[in-house]
Amino acid sequence: MHEFKYKGNYLCCEDIKVLDLAKQFGTPLYIYSYHTLIDHFVKLKIAFREVEPLICYSVKANSTLAILKALVDKGAGLDIVSGGELSRAIKVGCPAEKIVYASVGKTDREIEEAIRRRILFFNVESLPELENINRIAGRLNKVANVAIRINPDVEPKTHKFITTGKITNKFGIDFNSAYKILLIRNKFSHLNICGLHIHIGSQITESTPYVAAITKMAKFIAKLKRRGIDLEYLNIGGGLGIIYDKETPQTAQKFAQNVLPILKKTKLKIILEPGRFIVGNAGILVTKVLYIKSTPKKKFVIVDAGMNDLIRPALYDAYHQILPLRMTDSAGRKTEKVDVVGPICESADFFAKDRRLSCVEEGDYLAIMGAGAYGFSMSSNYNSRRRAEEVLVIKDKVFVIRKRETHTNLTRNEIIPLFLLGL
Ligand code: LLP
Repeated sequence: MHEFKYKGNYLCCEDIKVLDLAKQFGTPLYIYSYHTLIDHFVKLKIAFREVEPLICYSVKANSTLAILKALVDKGAGLDIVSGGELSRAIKVGCPAEKIVYASVGKTDREIEEAIRRRILFFNVESLPELENINRIAGRLNKVANVAIRINPDVEPKTHKFITTGKITNKFGIDFNSAYKILLIRNKFSHLNICGLHIHIGSQITESTPYVAAITKMAKFIAKLKRRGIDLEYLNIGGGLGIIYDKETPQTAQKFAQNVLPILKKTKLKIILEPGRFIVGNAGILVTKVLYIKSTPKKKFVIVDAGMNDLIRPALYDAYHQILPLRMTDSAGRKTEKVDVVGPICESADFFAKDRRLSCVEEGDYLAIMGAGAYGFSMSSNYNSRRRAEEVLVIKDKVFVIRKRETHTNLTRNEIIPLFLLGL
């Protein structure tokens, strides 16, 4: 599954001891395994090879340039949601015809830039957005490619904050409205409506919701065909779940087996937008134990990483496995129930609650597993904390892919008005 394994007593990333990396680069530290990253991409590609899909890695999961470049070099396209992500895509040399752009709130400036760059298409989320892209494309004297994001109204059985394909969610357009739009598609003289898109949620571990959504899409596509409306692309989004705890998610192969028969019937070009599946288990967050604090009711392991580094437990009550970097002699090893918490001034600043861990001491290091997706990319400077360093490991080699921020970095865009300086 991933290249973070114990060799002897030491947790290793590929061929390097994580402990050595923690000592060399300091903590909090994000460590990624190059081979895990690429293996996941390749697994998905192979599973779907019958339809030769375009796999657009979802940049939001982890947008660090080296991660993007590694995937783009292997043939991945990119799924973006902002002008910032577009600029990253361009920076790593992603061909424009492999970029798809979703988001319910694209600004005029973002739309204009994406049209100028000639991305593959926009995933359009509302009628007003469609009209706006048409207007902007007209002004630029261009024709913009768009896919309509459908809200298929299915229950993906995941956390409510990452459910996106239910009719009460802000995403996409319901089938009826989409149908009406497609009937009058010629009114949008600067648009080429070339596809349909769905993304029903994230960390989905079963294929039933996908099968339900894609079946609805296939029926819709057939109905459109009967009306003479031919499309080119079907983008089935991302959302594939990974193992954090005791999940038994569908494998890429199983997923493909279940949805390929329906996809093939549509005869459309297939696009996938996985994020977490590719990068989730390819990264860990390493942190150092600062203090052990015992209170009448609890034992707290206070570490130097905080919710600003990895917000998933605070935001979704997400489970991340926590492992020691060195296994102590198993015969004499004791375990205890602890809360692993960060230094931030919020009670939501935790990585584990009432978790049974092998006893740790001040100065020990811990690995927070499965932190590759929505880890660094959701990190912040809250409490004026510098964001972590990131390194990429390939076999026995390590590369810094993002330096730890400095205090100067944190204040570089701030201005104290002259009047406050008494000038
Ligand atoms: N496509 C679209 C349109 C999306 O909105 C997303 C994720 C993806 C693809 C990729 O989904 P994935 O394959 O990674 O599940 N911060 C949350 C996850 C938010 C997902 C947002 N959209 C978390 O940490 O669990």
